[in-house]
Amino acid sequence: MKLDVLVLGSGVAGLSAVVRLATPTGLRVGVLTKADLAQSTTRWAQGGIAAAVGGDEDSTDLHLADTLAAGAGLCDVDAVRVLVDEGPGRVDELIGLGAVFDREAGGDLALAREGGHSTARVLHAGGAATGAEVERALVSAVRRSAAAVLEQWFALDLIVEAGRCVGVRALDPEGGRQEVRATQVVLATGGAGQVYAVTTNPPEATGDGVAMALRAGVPVADLEFFQFHPTALHHPAMPRPLLSEALRGHGALLRDARGEQFVDELAPRDVVSRAMADRMAAQGVGYLWLDATGLESFGERFPTVAASLAAAGLDPAVDWLPIAPAAHYLSGGIVTDLDGASALPGLWAVGEVACTGVHGANRLASNSLLEGMVFGARLAEAIASGRDGPEDTGVMRCLSGSAGATAAGEIACVDVDTGVDSEEDTGPESPDTPPPPTVRSDPGSSADIDVAKLRERLQRAMIEGAGVVRSPQSLRMAAAEVGAVARHLVSATVAGAATDTATTPHIVGGAGRAAGELANLVTVSGALLRAAYVREETRGAHARRDFPEARPQWRCRLVHRAVATPGTLPPHPKTQS
Ligand code: SIN
Repeated sequence: MKLDVLVLGSGVAGLSAVVRLATPTGLRVGVLTKADLAQSTTRWAQGGIAAAVGGDEDSTDLHLADTLAAGAGLCDVDAVRVLVDEGPGRVDELIGLGAVFDREAGGDLALAREGGHSTARVLHAGGAATGAEVERALVSAVRRSAAAVLEQWFALDLIVEAGRCVGVRALDPEGGRQEVRATQVVLATGGAGQVYAVTTNPPEATGDGVAMALRAGVPVADLEFFQFHPTALHHPAMPRPLLSEALRGHGALLRDARGEQFVDELAPRDVVSRAMADRMAAQGVGYLWLDATGLESFGERFPTVAASLAAAGLDPAVDWLPIAPAAHYLSGGIVTDLDGASALPGLWAVGEVACTGVHGANRLASNSLLEGMVFGARLAEAIASGRDGPEDTGVMRCLSGSAGATAAGEIACVDVDTGVDSEEDTGPESPDTPPPPTVRSDPGSSADIDVAKLRERLQRAMIEGAGVVRSPQSLRMAAAEVGAVARHLVSATVAGAATDTATTPHIVGGAGRAAGELANLVTVSGALLRAAYVREETRGAHARRDFPEARPQWRCRLVHRAVATPGTLPPHPKTQS
């Protein structure tokens, strides 16, 4: 199969690109997804789309200022300017495609306030079913277009020839190995919440795009900034049912185990999640409370949330709702320029898989659907105009050596593995530690291996070791567990028939989709742990118990350029002064 453009992933970012590329340009466009076309993380998004469409009370400058404040000094200011300026126009285009948003009685768009926003600017659909409506409108437009749709295909790896990406190796729905070749390949594969045992993300969110990029040596940044949503329902269901931030926007209160309020409900998400983690530790409890008893017309305003509460036997009019933070959004990803081009010619990235710089160290609520719409459209326009390869804009500028622009001045990109002082090592993480062999003799053939159990083991280690608050000890523990999972997986896949060490030298993703997804989780977890270990400060979504404040010397972007050996951590960074 040979296409002009292959888009991997069918969420808001990928489909925003496909609808613009498929029909008007005459390009042969394909969209490949590992589930059904309509089954993406976007579908799960409750709130909303933040855009300055609210008349005199709002402005793109105010939206920019709120985004930069939430991003804790690491947002790329040019990327945020693009996001807020182009957002309102992309909202209009989505409405033109058929998306229906909630409106006031007079017909104006109904706007809600969420954490970190200084005014009401968040559009919703169906109360808290915004992603489902966005996905519905885009899927229907893609189905009407000329795009080829490959559903239930699982991409294993990028094909890189003569210094450019020329397609992917993939498993077709029957598990057969195929190559899908394209002049331009777009990764829109979404996030990686499945790295954690407690997440709002669906089972498909396994970090496939970031892992494939790392295996191909494509730079990836900001992985330590994994955002936890403060108000996931504390419940055995996985993914955790989300209690939208819009509830707090409408007046719901956070209460601790004693029933006391303890944090500004409308502070940015990282601040609220950290305050909750601290309060839970201090009170020795595993969850706190969201008090929505004062909200009028809950059922009419938030029908989907009301339905999931009813299913859990809770009535928000009388019950306080048990909540705890859950892994929600990967703020970092594949480094791109302002049009979504990665450092590898022929490869583009958009949406949660990308690091455009708009989120910095912590994404502002309801900026993610917006990012997918804005940068999906820009990427399509760049490809349609014949652009090939990255430009020196946005975060790419920082990667290429010229410093990236942020509100607080320029920042540098620092290599996770080599950019820190390596003189001080801490034993097991020594740079001299030899990498583990690719194949270990234990634990037998793939028939003996329960991939699902290994996945749970990794997820548990990550939530315990690299959750809302981290310490060097907890990160070491998690790294050791991830290393053990990797060794079991490698043994199993090497013992199995479908090994392909030529394409994935570190962890083999060839023994079927479940093993491939686990290999990707191992790769992403390993990189996340390395960055979290190196970054000795608390900033945005990365909190360190031993360094509870942001430190000026760490106002930099940590970049990965390859897969590190699972289970290892970089040399201990000398405290920079
Ligand atoms: C929410 O409704 O709280 C989630 C919105 C988001 O992730 O931005």
